[in-house]
Amino acid sequence: MSNFLRSGLDCLLKHAEVAPHVNQLRVHAGNSPRELLEFCEVKGIRVQAYSPIAHGTILDNADVQATAERHRVSASQPCIWCTLQLGTVSLPKTGNPEHIRANVQVDY
Ligand SMILES: NC(=O)c1ccc[n+]([C@@H]2O[C@H](COP(=O)([O-])OP(=O)(O)OC[C@H]3O[C@@H](n4cnc5c(N)ncnc54)[C@H](OP(=O)(O)O)[C@@H]3O)[C@@H](O)[C@H]2O)c1
Repeated sequence: MSNFLRSGLDCLLKHAEVAPHVNQLRVHAGNSPRELLEFCEVKGIRVQAYSPIAHGTILDNADVQATAERHRVSASQPCIWCTLQLGTVSLPKTGNPEHIRANVQVDY
């Protein structure tokens, strides 16, 4: 999938009059397409990470929970931190005000 997306981007960069400035990719702790992320960085394309919490499914992961417990934060926070460490703009989605407050506290 990563190669497919990369060759699509290559083609776009060769032929488009305006280069894309932003690329939205599915990035989370269980899915980090490093080659594609590096390619975007080299080309000056900012990556936005959609589904940084893997639709919520990653919150039950034992390693994620252990990391969260070690830092005394909610399980969503290391997930968001991971996508920031990968150099992306993280786009967590929630309709819950408490979760919004937790999700912005990533400077622990
Ligand atoms: N551009 C694209 O190609 C593309 C593709 C897919 C999705 N998107 C967009 O990207 C967004 C991502 O959606 P997603 O569902 O994949 O996002 P996500 O951020 O990976 O997961 C959202 C889920 O995590 C839960 N959650 C968030 N913060 C939490 C917290 N602090 N504690 C516990 N649970 C928490 C939410 O439940 P609560 O609401 O209960 O907090 C929700 O069920 C959507 O707006 C979607 O439209 C864009």
